[in-house]
Amino acid sequence: MTTTCRIVVLISGSGSNLQAIIDAIDTKQIPAEIVAVISNKAEAYGLQRAASANIATQVLPYAGFTDRQEYDQALMACINQYQPDLIILAGFMRILSNELVHHYPGRMLNIHPSLLPKYKGLNTHQRVLEAGEKEHGATVHFVTPELDSGPIILQGKIPILKTDNEQQLTQHIHKLEHQIYPQAVMWFAQGRLHLSGNTVLLDQHPITPQQQIYTQSITGQLSNN
Ligand code: GRF
Repeated sequence: MTTTCRIVVLISGSGSNLQAIIDAIDTKQIPAEIVAVISNKAEAYGLQRAASANIATQVLPYAGFTDRQEYDQALMACINQYQPDLIILAGFMRILSNELVHHYPGRMLNIHPSLLPKYKGLNTHQRVLEAGEKEHGATVHFVTPELDSGPIILQGKIPILKTDNEQQLTQHIHKLEHQIYPQAVMWFAQGRLHLSGNTVLLDQHPITPQQQIYTQSITGQLSNN
């Protein structure tokens, strides 16, 4: 990408992933500018994070729209005002219509708190604990119309400790997310990451498992060996 990558971030809540990306842009790790943060919830704390970073914010609540199609038309119009190169879903708790997703092919990323394709959908930490899994993680992927099913860019894995409860696991996964999401956004902003059909390309070659999978040790060290 020759010019600075323009990013619109969609949120519904705390925005800690948004913050991780703001910080990585501020420290020049990501050659990008967040041109707007859009939330469907007026009370989302992420809006305050954006305002503190002097980023434009918009609130687009669902109330008042008759269906998903109509809402997504308004959302698209809102996004398009900012002419983004990349749209980032960071805890945006609405399912997007096919039409909206198709409008931004290869230009929309999501982060999901599980090792996809396992545990799509909600309450992943609780379900992982109930299933007695030995490891858990988070996945950054390109967005396609089917929920949590787009081509995988990066995954971070952590072991589940015997002592982990849902709250602790949530915190561990959040920390992991704050490392892998900025990494994927950095690749995109550098013009190194593309989607070709269903294949994720890094530096023009299909991404390899070694580039894709990061494992965090008990000491918090993240590595992809
Ligand atoms: C994250 O766990 C992300 O994986 C999921 O929603 C959560 C958002 O957290 N999609 P935050 O708002 O970024 O703190």
